[in-house]
Amino acid sequence: MESDLSTTFTGVRFRNPFLLSSAPPTESESNILRAFEGGWGGVVTKTIGLHPVVNVLGPKTKFLRADADSARLSMKKRPAAALHSSWNWELISDKTLDWWVPRLGRIKKAFPDHALVASIMAGSGNDTELRHWQELATACQDQGCDALELNLSCPHMDRPDMGSNVGKDKELVSIVTKVVKEVSKIPVWAKLTPSTTDIVVEARGAFLGGADAISSSNTFTSLPLIDPETLEFEINVDGLVSTGGLGGPAILPLSLAKMSQLTQAFPDKSFSGIGGISTFEHALNYFMLGCGTVQVCTAAMLDHAIGPHVIRELNAGLTRFLDQHADRGWRRVDDLVGLRRNSVVAQSKIRRPTEKDYHGGFDAEGYAAAEEKV
Ligand SMILES: Cc1cc2nc3c(=O)[nH]c(=O)nc-3n(C[C@H](O)[C@H](O)[C@H](O)COP(=O)(O)O)c2cc1C
Repeated sequence: MESDLSTTFTGVRFRNPFLLSSAPPTESESNILRAFEGGWGGVVTKTIGLHPVVNVLGPKTKFLRADADSARLSMKKRPAAALHSSWNWELISDKTLDWWVPRLGRIKKAFPDHALVASIMAGSGNDTELRHWQELATACQDQGCDALELNLSCPHMDRPDMGSNVGKDKELVSIVTKVVKEVSKIPVWAKLTPSTTDIVVEARGAFLGGADAISSSNTFTSLPLIDPETLEFEINVDGLVSTGGLGGPAILPLSLAKMSQLTQAFPDKSFSGIGGISTFEHALNYFMLGCGTVQVCTAAMLDHAIGPHVIRELNAGLTRFLDQHADRGWRRVDDLVGLRRNSVVAQSKIRRPTEKDYHGGFDAEGYAAAEEKV
C-alpha cells in the first residue's frame, strides 16, 4: 500500500502536513501562489489587521550565524558559518484588509484544493476592537479561507491589548477566541506566545473560548547582540533597538518543550507545531509529541523566499519515513502523531542508578575531564 501524505486537521484537508507560517514568505499573492506551486500543503497568511502599520527604518530581519571553529556568534555575513537563528522586529502586514480581500479570493480560486489560513489580529481593549476581530474574520472567510489563525503572539507590539500582550492574559485569550468563534464558520486556531510561565494556562483560555487548535511557537522575545568593535547592537536604528523575536534552529528545542506541555495537558486537542523546522527530522519531533501539522518560516525565508527546496525535502522525508516503517503499519502522518507524547515525564520519574553504581555524584559526568598533562 502506498503512503499517503495527506491529513485532515481541524476538519480541513491538507495535501501534506507542511505549512508556511504567517511571515514574509506569505506576505503577497505571488508568494502564496508560488508556495502552492512548490508543494506546500497550506499557508498561513502574513497577519492581517485593521490598524495602520509602519515598520522600522532599515532591515526588519537578520540572521545570526555561528562559526564552526570558534565561539563567535554574529549577524555579519561570512563564509563557513552555520545558521543559529533569525531575529526580527517586523510588524504584521502593512497592507490593508481591502488589499488582502480580493487576493485571498483569487488565491483560493486558483488553488481550491490547497489550504489557505488567514492570520488576523486586532486590539482587545474595548468592544470596538473586539468587533474588529469579527470584521477581519468575516472578510477572510467570505473569500473562501479554510481556517483562521489568531495572532495572540507577536512579541514586539507596544500596545498592551495586542499580540503577545493578549497571549499572556488567559482571560483576553479566551474573550478574543470566543468573539471570533461567534462569527466564524471555519475552524479557528489560536497562535500563542511562548513568553509565559505556563503556556497551558493560556491554552486553556483559548480552548474555553472555543479554539479548534493551538499553534505554537511564535518567535521568542530576544535582543540582537552588541558588536564588540562598534559597541552598537548588530541591528539598530540611530543606535536604538527594541526587543524582537528569535526564530530558526535555536528555538527548536525551546519550542518543543512548550509543545510537550501543551500536548500532554490536552491530549485530545489539535496542535500545529512551529519553530526551527527545516527538515523532516525536525518536523518529526512535533508529530511525535502530538502535532497534526507543522509550520515553517526562517528556513523558507532563506530558500528563495518561499522554501521550494525545504518543502521538497519535507515531503520526500515523510515519504521516505513512511516507506521505511511500512512494516509497522504506518501509512500516514496521523499514525505517528503523539507516539512520544508520554515519554516526557517529571524528572523524579527518571530512573536513578542503583546504589552499587552510584558514586555519590563524584563521577566526571557533566564536567570537563581534567586536562591531560603532556
Ligand atoms: C520576519 C518575520 C515576520 C513574522 N511575522 C509574523 C506575523 O505577521 N504573524 C505571526 O503570527 N507570526 C509571524 N512570525 C513568526 C513566524 O510565523 C514563526 O512563528 C516563527 O518565526 C518561528 O518559526 P521558525 O523558527 O520556522 O522561523 C514572523 C517571523 C519572522 C522571522
